[in-house]
Amino acid sequence: MIQNITDLLNEVSFFSVKDSEELELFRLKYLSKKGLLSDLFEEFKNVPASQKKEVGQKLNLLKQNALEKYNSLKTDLQNKEVSADGTDLTRPSFPYSTGSRHPISIVRNELIDIFTRIGFTVSEGPEIEDDDHVFTKLNFAPEHPARDMQDTFYISRISSEDSSPEDILLRTHTSSVQVRVMQNQKPPIRTISPGRVFRNEAISARAHCIFHQVEGLYIDENVSFADLKQTLLFFARELFGKDTDIRLRPSYFPFTEPSAEMDVSCTICSGKGCKVCKYTGWLEILGCGMVHPNVLEACNIDSKKYTGFAFGMGIERAAMLKYGVNDLRLYFENDLRFLDQFKTAF
Ligand code: DAH
Repeated sequence: MIQNITDLLNEVSFFSVKDSEELELFRLKYLSKKGLLSDLFEEFKNVPASQKKEVGQKLNLLKQNALEKYNSLKTDLQNKEVSADGTDLTRPSFPYSTGSRHPISIVRNELIDIFTRIGFTVSEGPEIEDDDHVFTKLNFAPEHPARDMQDTFYISRISSEDSSPEDILLRTHTSSVQVRVMQNQKPPIRTISPGRVFRNEAISARAHCIFHQVEGLYIDENVSFADLKQTLLFFARELFGKDTDIRLRPSYFPFTEPSAEMDVSCTICSGKGCKVCKYTGWLEILGCGMVHPNVLEACNIDSKKYTGFAFGMGIERAAMLKYGVNDLRLYFENDLRFLDQFKTAF
């Protein structure tokens, strides 16, 4: 019997198959219920006790080798079959997720797209700014509360009483880019400036210490409030849909005169009144106005010759209204269950 098993061990180790039919023959011959191994184990019962140990070990080895051979022949065959049609066998079995753009990037790109179509360029400025560009040249009085430490992240303050031009801070709005553009370019100027801004606020569903804004600026001869209104109406209808209405309410900003805040008809109820618009039918979207002559003069633009309008809006706010998101914090948490919902947007 020992010799028989040794011969079979040899046979198994040199066995090769061409296709799955031959593999099946191998299985039937060695491993099936009526196969050789089964017979040998049956025969093993009659082996004298003195030889049981030696024969048993050999028989177990044969069983193990036959099984291993069967499995390796089977994988070889499978690999051959799949690679024959050109499939890349090193590919992972599940496709990688391709990811998606962040909703803030989607809306920012859409805003850029809308305004560049009507002749606006895109400009950028630094996030770490000085007091001069964020406040002073924008006509903020020295004691204006927006300069307060409670709103503004200061990196260095020269004087704690009134602000000095050397005060370095994180910009609280993208209006600072207006100043840089006006200092570096001659009218006509038509530009938008998207970017990050920072305010020292407690984080909640409605406020965050980091958010994004887009600033708009148009300076030329004879630019009027009517131009501002028409530009904003065009923008609102492009972003929120062609039936959107706008409403301008008088407001105050140091850098514009007159100033206004713009509402759009509620994106949820189309102006009929619902929980989102607090039953007013309107949603506040941006601040705007005619650039204050003091600002033009501070940036060396002749305020007798030129006029202009400016506007500024929060991108998170616009995205919230567009997508019906009710908690600002979702934009910063990078939860894939949230981000995955924007897969189809461009
Ligand atoms: N900078 C303002 C803010 O952060 C927004 C703003 C209002 C910008 C009116 C403007 C404007 O350009 O004209 O709240």
